[in-house]
Amino acid sequence: MSCCGRPNTNENDANRQMQAQTTMVTQQPGLQPSLGFQTPAITTPTPTYAANVNAVNTWSHSPSPPPGPGMNGMMMNNLQSSTPIPTTYSATINGSSSYSTTEPLIRPDAIYPGYGSSSPPLSLNTGIPPSVPQIASKPVDEGKMSIAFDFGTTFSGVAYGSARVTAGKVQQILNWPGSTETFRKIPTCLLYDGHGQVLAWGLEAKNASPMAGTIRCEWFKLYLEPHALRDESAVDPRLPRLPPGKKPIDLIIDFLSCLWEYAKDQITREIGAVADLNSADVWLTVPAAWDAKGCDIMREAAITAGLVQNAHAGDRTWRDRLHIITEPEAAAVHCAFLTNVHHLKPSQNFMIVDAGGGTCDLAVYKIIGQMANLEIAEMCARSGANCGSLFLDLRFRELVKTLLADHPAHLDPASLAYFMHSFSETDKLTYKGLSDDNNMFHFTCFNVEDPHDPSVGLIDGQLCIPGNLLREKVFDPVVSQVLSLIEDQIKKVDQPIHALLLVGGFAGSEYLKHCVEVQFESRIRIITRPPDADTATLRGAAQYGLAKRQLVSTVIAPRSYIMKVKLPAEKDDWHKRPAYIRNNDAGVAICDNRLQYLVTKGAILRKGQRLTTKFCKFSQSVQDSSFVATLFTSDSEKLMRYTDEGETTELCKWTVDLSSLPTFRQNAMHQSGGFYTEFELGLELDSAEVRGILLYNNQEWGRVTFDFIN
Ligand SMILES: Nc1ncnc2c1ncn2[C@@H]1O[C@H](COP(=O)(O)OP(=O)(O)OP(=O)(O)O)[C@@H](O)[C@H]1O
Ligand SMILES: [Mg+2]
Repeated sequence: MSCCGRPNTNENDANRQMQAQTTMVTQQPGLQPSLGFQTPAITTPTPTYAANVNAVNTWSHSPSPPPGPGMNGMMMNNLQSSTPIPTTYSATINGSSSYSTTEPLIRPDAIYPGYGSSSPPLSLNTGIPPSVPQIASKPVDEGKMSIAFDFGTTFSGVAYGSARVTAGKVQQILNWPGSTETFRKIPTCLLYDGHGQVLAWGLEAKNASPMAGTIRCEWFKLYLEPHALRDESAVDPRLPRLPPGKKPIDLIIDFLSCLWEYAKDQITREIGAVADLNSADVWLTVPAAWDAKGCDIMREAAITAGLVQNAHAGDRTWRDRLHIITEPEAAAVHCAFLTNVHHLKPSQNFMIVDAGGGTCDLAVYKIIGQMANLEIAEMCARSGANCGSLFLDLRFRELVKTLLADHPAHLDPASLAYFMHSFSETDKLTYKGLSDDNNMFHFTCFNVEDPHDPSVGLIDGQLCIPGNLLREKVFDPVVSQVLSLIEDQIKKVDQPIHALLLVGGFAGSEYLKHCVEVQFESRIRIITRPPDADTATLRGAAQYGLAKRQLVSTVIAPRSYIMKVKLPAEKDDWHKRPAYIRNNDAGVAICDNRLQYLVTKGAILRKGQRLTTKFCKFSQSVQDSSFVATLFTSDSEKLMRYTDEGETTELCKWTVDLSSLPTFRQNAMHQSGGFYTEFELGLELDSAEVRGILLYNNQEWGRVTFDFIN
């Protein structure tokens, strides 16, 4: 069996052989009824998942900051640099209540796809991206370990390697507490006592016998999905509740701490104490659909859990050893190494469909360069949604509740969990789809009472569900969500897709694979599950770390990054929004509620490319050195000029301390009654994260602190 509990098909033979060289790999575990059965802490479910996508913070006409004396700073992109800065603008970007009267104005050089960036974005329309400048090899410390964590909604794993210690090969941790068998991933599950202390994790937590006062927690990764993060009512009500007093981040910290403490021991045992694990590079994967806030929470959790730490005195960059990449990107790296398997050639595009337990994540990549010098470029803003395999389990539970609505003896939590367990560990994994339509699926009841009512399928203590009903009520709704995601990606990329690679545990579903083939085989020649499909993300993340150069050279901004600004009124503004225009103290016409794009959705960025934006701040005194601005995001393709044109989400506040800048200090010394400081901020978008850097003379001068807004 594969790690995700489905029988290995011939397709997975290569995988089996590779594994056999090291150790025998067996089925990913589920609840073992013989070990007892824990009543899961599941809230009363509602019939369908209805994420409130509109419930995110919308762009509000936040009041402008109180006009201060003179100019507080200004946005400068419409001014020649030789133009003297008018001294009369009184207000600036996004006047949230925390702004002082000395708020900054900005001078951004907007980044639009195709023009305006400080280093021009690539064009994707030519088929093959223009050659990307050779990415310099990083100096390699041959003994340095790379450790990858795949923190999954249902299963998690750890892989590691180093050039010297493992000869550049990826090793996975296969032995885990709670079993003598080997597992490539273990359940993302925690068992707490009544005081919030962790009693068990992984296999032991999943298989724990019920005990009064204990709480078992699963699926908590889904709390970091962007809508759920911003609006509690958008959290799927079918998800288990968190233990009292605990936030999602607390559970993630607890789980990662357990995983890391164990992994350190295990790696040391496997390779001997030849590597310093405290100075290892750590790679952590996150779903494609997460935004910077979710990634930031993950980063904070990983740091608190000690995945990276200060390794020696003077180790100032220890936090940078933590790298966060998206799950499809990691899976793409794994798959790109397997070109002999699915015959991809340079310049061809492939789509990764990572169908996991919680989410299904997609992205399209192009292979560039020769295979000996493999490099891939993201071709299309990645996407994802909560339509992983556990939603089959949840739908199955709904179906059971509906069928047995008049037989409450079978609807207590233990009974429902028992039904769900047998579906999730057996019938779900072997389900074939249409060919199962006429088969009957039998589920033994947990309670012996009320065993017979053939009118609802209750026969001699078993619930019998016809295959076509399972397909209609359980599989089809989830599978069709996955198909729509693929359809949307194909539309967005607008280029031929040469291969579709199905990875993740849910990719093991014969029915899902069949549906994908039926719908897309006329458009995509190769549709396949590559070897190690169930651990592609984990292995790819580790390979990423082991590579001596950057494997993914470009990323596509999945959303726009915008600031709300005030600008000198232009002709367009007089025409379109006269109501937004007012004269400031100096009689200059200013237009409120303008939007300034720092990065537009779909912009193609070289990895690590820095997008610089010029700003100018008016300070009243030397103490007034803090620059604060609010960064918004938008998922809309449309470029908006005004705040009222569409929906935006407040992402975070940027805070920069300018006091270290030589210009700030000089100006402060020489000018009484206030002074201006011009400076530049760099925005770096990685596959998952957003970073801000304060620049001076093109050199990094400090970091921007992002304070994420709820
Ligand atoms: N044959 C199968 N059919 C349907 N689902 C399957 C099959 N085999 C495994 N699964 C499911 O796949 C899931 C595990 O996949 P995976 O390990 O990729 O998810 P994850 O990493 O926990 O989730 P995510 O990546 O969404 O956070 C489990 O829900 C498991 O039940
Ligand atoms: Mg996963």
